[in-house]
Amino acid sequence: MPDVTLNNGVAMPQLGFGVWQVGDAEAESAVRTALETGYRSVDTAQIYGNEEGTGRGLRASGVPRAELFVTTKLWNSDQGYDATLRAFDASLRRLGLEYLDLYLIHWPMPGRGRYLDTWRAFEKLLDDGRVRAVGMSNFTLETLRRVIEETAVVPAVNQIELHPYLQQDGLRAFHEEHGVRTEAWSPLGQGKGLLDDPALAPIARAHGRTPAQVVLRWHLQLGNIVIPKSVTPARIAQNADVFGFELTGEEMAAIGALDSGTRLGPDPETFDLA
Ligand code: A2P
Repeated sequence: MPDVTLNNGVAMPQLGFGVWQVGDAEAESAVRTALETGYRSVDTAQIYGNEEGTGRGLRASGVPRAELFVTTKLWNSDQGYDATLRAFDASLRRLGLEYLDLYLIHWPMPGRGRYLDTWRAFEKLLDDGRVRAVGMSNFTLETLRRVIEETAVVPAVNQIELHPYLQQDGLRAFHEEHGVRTEAWSPLGQGKGLLDDPALAPIARAHGRTPAQVVLRWHLQLGNIVIPKSVTPARIAQNADVFGFELTGEEMAAIGALDSGTRLGPDPETFDLA
């Protein structure tokens, strides 16, 4: 699985396995299956409630720690310098890990004004060698700009809702300008709907692939990091098998034309759930 290089030199697999909406017990088997299938990167979060199951799956796979890339996210109620440091320790304990590969602030919650202090705690965790890279999730252009201008460390990634119906061109260009990698959550648009779009069927047929594989390929060719979620072993395997074909410029443009700015998740400007 190919890596991308983050802005601090750390290598991260471009394709990972996401476990949003996967229960704790199910996460264990799904993570194990994913690692046995060849995934090396796993994305969870404090709020998903499955860090323990994810950790058990990591261990059950037998894959050496050094070959794994593990991401988790700080939940909103733990923003602030001291609370962040405590929440990080608790996440590591649940995962059963001694260090993390990537730690993300889950949502900016701009109305609360705590994300800069939170970020300073992330900088300390990075300095202390407890995490190899730090970044954001769901940061808007404005909140990201403040972090870049007012703190010492440029985030390695911003993980945002991104799929053919919500292509985020403005934010992606801003990321590129500042050396922040774009990571897509719900890269498949949560499955139904997008994957039945009539524009995808002929492209899938032309390559002998599924619409899901075509969408993942579109992300990879744009340079996005992707973390498709599935609890179905055949789909887990299918979603990893996306490196043996290439979309043409015309096909990329046909998918590019699907952008309708449709969000499936909350709007990060106003989302404020603690
Ligand atoms: P399931 O977990 O039952 O296999 P996203 O990552 O964009 O949030 O999408 C996840 C959703 O898409 C899940 O409901 C998942 O279903 C479904 N899904 C994942 N991979 C595929 C695939 N290759 N084909 C069809 N649906 C998929």
